[in-house]
Amino acid sequence: MYIPSSYQSFSPMTLSKIRSATASSQTVYSKDVGAVNIKSSKEIPNVESNLELYHDIREVVIDVQSFFIFGKATTVLPTFTIHLTPLTYLPKVDEPRRDWVASVAVPAFMAHREDSAVRRFVTIGTGSGLDAIAALDIFDLESLAITDLHPVVVQTAASNIKAATAGCPSLTKAVESLVAHSGDLLTPLKDHEGQALHSGQASSTYAAERYEQIPAIANDSLLALHWLALVQAKTLLAPGGAVLSSMGGRVPLAAMLEMARSAGYVPQVLTYTWKIQSEPEEVIGGYNKNQEDGTRPFYFYLAEVLEREFAGITPLEGGRVAAWIEQQLAPYRLDAVVAYEAHKTGIIIGHTVAVVRSVISDVQGPA
Ligand SMILES: C[S@@+](CC[C@H](N)C(=O)[O-])C[C@H]1O[C@@H](n2cnc3c(N)ncnc32)[C@H](O)[C@@H]1O
Repeated sequence: MYIPSSYQSFSPMTLSKIRSATASSQTVYSKDVGAVNIKSSKEIPNVESNLELYHDIREVVIDVQSFFIFGKATTVLPTFTIHLTPLTYLPKVDEPRRDWVASVAVPAFMAHREDSAVRRFVTIGTGSGLDAIAALDIFDLESLAITDLHPVVVQTAASNIKAATAGCPSLTKAVESLVAHSGDLLTPLKDHEGQALHSGQASSTYAAERYEQIPAIANDSLLALHWLALVQAKTLLAPGGAVLSSMGGRVPLAAMLEMARSAGYVPQVLTYTWKIQSEPEEVIGGYNKNQEDGTRPFYFYLAEVLEREFAGITPLEGGRVAAWIEQQLAPYRLDAVVAYEAHKTGIIIGHTVAVVRSVISDVQGPA
């Protein structure tokens, strides 16, 4: 099970109520498309009829060999076209160092494959579906499930997965098994309902306020969604299964590991790498705002420092010596306020990324 990073920095993580996932109609506003009214996810018959609601569908050609900077694609098509709706988190296909799939998911899946034969795979918050396409390429899957917040994002991702694998006989079974549902975290895998969005919010930038009780280690590190996903995954994980949590390293590794332990798992850093901050204005700005409001500090680095310090270290090797790398980087840390100032002067800011692999501990954790 793969849980990518998300926009925690926008969420105050108070104990406010999540809106009901059973709303019968959702009003969505995107500045590109104007206001549209979408019927409940159950009433949406297929992706084509939805896409008519969004005029700004982008078509992007993926050249896998240049996109997968950490691994050669051998199973999916070498080039394929994907579609991106205005609500889809945009992959950074021309700049793999900014992209979560190219820089983080691909090396983590390759590292996980070294000692685990994955046959069933779920990704939470798939966006364009490229992480699922990478999983199909890297693992020998017999079944696949994807989720994200909004029905049109998930349905478009499903179409993208089909486009990337059309005519690939070894992938037919897994792609035919595809389960694609929308909603919050892992709940759509249980009840298949969509998630209401606030007016003006795109699926990709959505971070609901939460009413669940979140332990301080997850809340203070803005890792509440990761903690919740880990807790929800417990009832869905097959014996021997693992959760890969892909976390931007704006908090120390110790905090990420403690967060996973507090959800009742035995975690380990699988890969440790870096990426250029995507959407720097929103994301560094969001962490800056949190820090100004009195939270703990969040850390970034100059991208050139990360490039230099990680030179010659693969993400898997980085995972094995992550604590040492973190120590080497300590003198170069910029907190969110300083990083935001630097970003505003045009300096390229990056951050570390850890993929933490968690397996269920025998000791009883949160139910
Ligand atoms: C940083 S993007 C990563 C997208 C994609 N996996 C990738 O690597 O390019 C995070 C994704 O998680 C989704 N997301 C955010 N909060 C979520 C939630 N509570 N439940 C499910 N998905 C969520 C967003 O819509 C977005 O597509």
